Amino acid sequence: MNHSNEYDAKEYFQKIYERPVILEAKQLSQVFKHDKIERTVLNKIDLKIHKREFICVIGPSGCGKSTFSRVVAGLDPYHSGEILVDGEKITGPSPERGMVFQGYTLFPWKTVKENVMFGPLMKGASNALAEANAREWINIIGLEKYENQYPHQLSGGMKQRVAIARALVNEPKILLMDEPFGALDPHTRQKMQKHLMDLWQNIDITIIFVTHDMDEAILLADRIVALKANPGEIKEIIEVDLPRPRNFDLIQTAEFKRLKEHVNHLVHAQEDELDPALEDLPKIPRMTQISANK
Ligand SMILES: Nc1ncnc2c1ncn2[C@@H]1O[C@H](COP(=O)(O)OP(=O)(O)OP(=O)(O)O)[C@@H](O)[C@H]1O
Ligand SMILES: [Mg+2]
Repeated sequence: MNHSNEYDAKEYFQKIYERPVILEAKQLSQVFKHDKIERTVLNKIDLKIHKREFICVIGPSGCGKSTFSRVVAGLDPYHSGEILVDGEKITGPSPERGMVFQGYTLFPWKTVKENVMFGPLMKGASNALAEANAREWINIIGLEKYENQYPHQLSGGMKQRVAIARALVNEPKILLMDEPFGALDPHTRQKMQKHLMDLWQNIDITIIFVTHDMDEAILLADRIVALKANPGEIKEIIEVDLPRPRNFDLIQTAEFKRLKEHVNHLVHAQEDELDPALEDLPKIPRMTQISANK
């Protein structure tokens, strides 16, 4: 018998699977047409994500991770199959699905506070209510001293925190993050990972997080969805059976290394499935005049 405070992975995952399904992809396919040639990028994806799960999506470059995020965000129509949130078909973007994408930037002409107020104002909140909601989230992300600054006056990490606050102020059911910390230095990245874990522990939210970084995926996820490329299909779904709350010491443990080896193998043993655009990179012509033997 287990002590009540002892981590039991089987029990942990059983509890997750008992929770309602919040996002379901059924035979979801995405096909892009270019010069009359059709290319299947996502091929018949079946996936069930449960309420309050933390899902990380990994896979080689070009396998369709961002394509999947954009479909879930409602930014792109999809080719066939179905994708449901709480049993309802996704037909476009909605504040119930918050987005933090690397290229999806803040409004440069708005201050931190105005950026965060934007969502509530769009939903019809009064200025006073929008401001109160924005302040609450700006406090949570620890940027109260910066609320009247503009994005160009912030560091990359701060901007990502504002982007997270801007998404969370709408109280989304799902937070979609596509390589949100990819441009940050390792130290800032760790701080953001810790902050995100704390946020997720404390609010009712399901997170779908795309990353290239194996450590990040293992540290954050309940389950890791590993995609393969050409066409994008689910290669394996890995249950990360590491106790929570997690901290960075975990990375040095044998259990973590075991998982990492497995995940690395899954992603890197795909040389024959790489993005065709990466296959025949051109030889770089020599353009320097300075030295012939550098
Ligand atoms: N709008 C589009 N039109 C045509 N092709 C597209 C479009 N969007 C993506 N693709 C193609 O779909 C494939 C998957 O792209 P996607 O951006 O989803 O990959 P990814 O897994 O996010 O890669 P990365 O890890 O490099 O971010 C690529 O080959 C890309 O060229
Ligand atoms: Mg991408």
